[in-house]
Amino acid sequence: MNPFTFYNPVKIHFGDNAIDKLPKELDEYGKNVLIVYGGGSIKKNGVYNDVISVLELAGKKVFEVDGVEPNPRVETARRGAEICKKENIDFVLAVGGGSVIDCAKLIVAAAKYDGDAWDIVTKKVIATNALPLGTVLTLAATGSEMNSGSVITNAETLEKFSWGSPAVFPKFSILNPAYTLSVPRNHTVYGIVDMMSHIFEQYFHNATNTPVTDEMCEGVLRAVMAAATKLVENLDDIALRETVLIAGTIGLNGFLSIGSRGDWATHNIEHAVSAVYDIPHAGGLAILQPHWMRLAVQVNPERFAGLATRVFAVDSLGKTVEQVAYEGIDRLSAFWSSLGAPTRLADYDIDDSKFNQIVEHAMANGPFGNFKKLEQQDVRTILENAL
Ligand code: NZQ
Ligand code: ZN
Repeated sequence: MNPFTFYNPVKIHFGDNAIDKLPKELDEYGKNVLIVYGGGSIKKNGVYNDVISVLELAGKKVFEVDGVEPNPRVETARRGAEICKKENIDFVLAVGGGSVIDCAKLIVAAAKYDGDAWDIVTKKVIATNALPLGTVLTLAATGSEMNSGSVITNAETLEKFSWGSPAVFPKFSILNPAYTLSVPRNHTVYGIVDMMSHIFEQYFHNATNTPVTDEMCEGVLRAVMAAATKLVENLDDIALRETVLIAGTIGLNGFLSIGSRGDWATHNIEHAVSAVYDIPHAGGLAILQPHWMRLAVQVNPERFAGLATRVFAVDSLGKTVEQVAYEGIDRLSAFWSSLGAPTRLADYDIDDSKFNQIVEHAMANGPFGNFKKLEQQDVRTILENAL
C-alpha cells in the first residue's frame, strides 16, 4: 500500500424517515436556507414537500435555486452564489442527484469568493472556504453525497472539469432508499454503470499489497451486479434500491482507494465527450470503459484475469491469463448492454467529426491515467474503437 491520510467527515443518515434528522442537523445554523434542485423530479415524487415542511417547521426562511441541469452548468452555480451573497444565506441544502449536489458544492464555494465561479472549477483559485452544505440524495450513482468532488460544465467554452476541496464536503447527507423509487429505468441503469465504473477506476492502480481494498471492490461489484439484474425488472423493489444506494456512496467516498491511486482515465475521456456532446455521464462510461480496459490489459493481465474470475465468473480452465482477462471485459460489456446501457458512440449519433476537440480537451493537462498513462494517440484509439 502507499502511505495515506484518510479524511471523510460526512455524516450519513440512511433509511426510512432519515429526513426526520434534518431539523436537528440545521439547528446550529442560521435562519436563511437555500435549497438547490433540478428539473422538477422532486416535485413529482413528494421529496420537495417533505423537505419544505421540515424546513418550515424548523422556522427557516427558504430560498430556492431550481433547474440545475444534468451535467450542471457554471451559470446555474453563479446564480446560486449570487443569491447566497444577496440574501445572507446561512446554509445550502442540495436535494437531488449528483448534478444538483455538484452544483451546490460550487455554489457554497463561490458564495465565499469575490471572483467568478469558473475560476474555482479551473483551479485558478483553490476554494478554501465555503458555506455549510447538506444533501438529500434522490439518485444512486455518483457518490457526491459523501465526497468533496464536483463536476461542472461551461456550455460556452464546451468544457467540463472536475474540481474539489475539503471545504465542500457535505456536513451531512440524508439517504432514504424510498426517495430513489421514482428514478426511471434509464437513470437507474446509468447510476449502476457509474458506481461500477468508479470501482473499476479505483481497482486499477499500481500499488502493491492491497488485498483489503481489492476484496472490498470485488465484493461491492458483485453485490451491485446481483441487485442490478433484478432491479431493472422491478424498479419498485425497495430492498434492491437500498443495496444500490449504499453501494453508490461507498463506491466513491474514499474507502476503496485507501493506500492506492486509481486510474481515472476513462472518466477524464468521458468528461471530454460529454462536454462536447452533452450526453449522460454514465452512458459515455458504458461505451468507453471496456475499450479503455482492452487497451490497458497488458499493464497487468493478472489483475484483469483476477477480476474476470472473481467478479464475472469466467472459468479459467485451459485458458491463458490474457484470454481470461479479455473474456472478463467482454462479460462486463455484455452485462451493461443487458441492462440497456449504450455500447457505441453511434448510439448517441456521435461520429468522429469532433474527435480532435475531444482529444484536445482530454489532454488539457497532458498525459493522464495512473494505472496506464495515456498519450494523445491512445485517447484517439479508444474513441475510434468506440465508434
Ligand atoms: O433534474 P431532475 O428533475 O431532478 O431529474 C433528474 C435528472 O433528469 C433525475 N432524477 C434524479 N432523482 C430522481 C430523478 N428522477 C426521478 N426520481 C428521482 N428520485 O435523474 C436525472 C439525472 O440526474 P443527475 O443528477 O444528472 O444524475 P447523476 O446523479 O448521475 O449525476 C451526474 C453528474 O455527476 C457527475 C457527472 O459528470 C454528471 O455531471 N459526477 C460527479 C461525481 C462526483 N461529484 O463525485 C463523480 C462522477 O464520476 C460524475 O462525474
Ligand atoms: Zn462517474
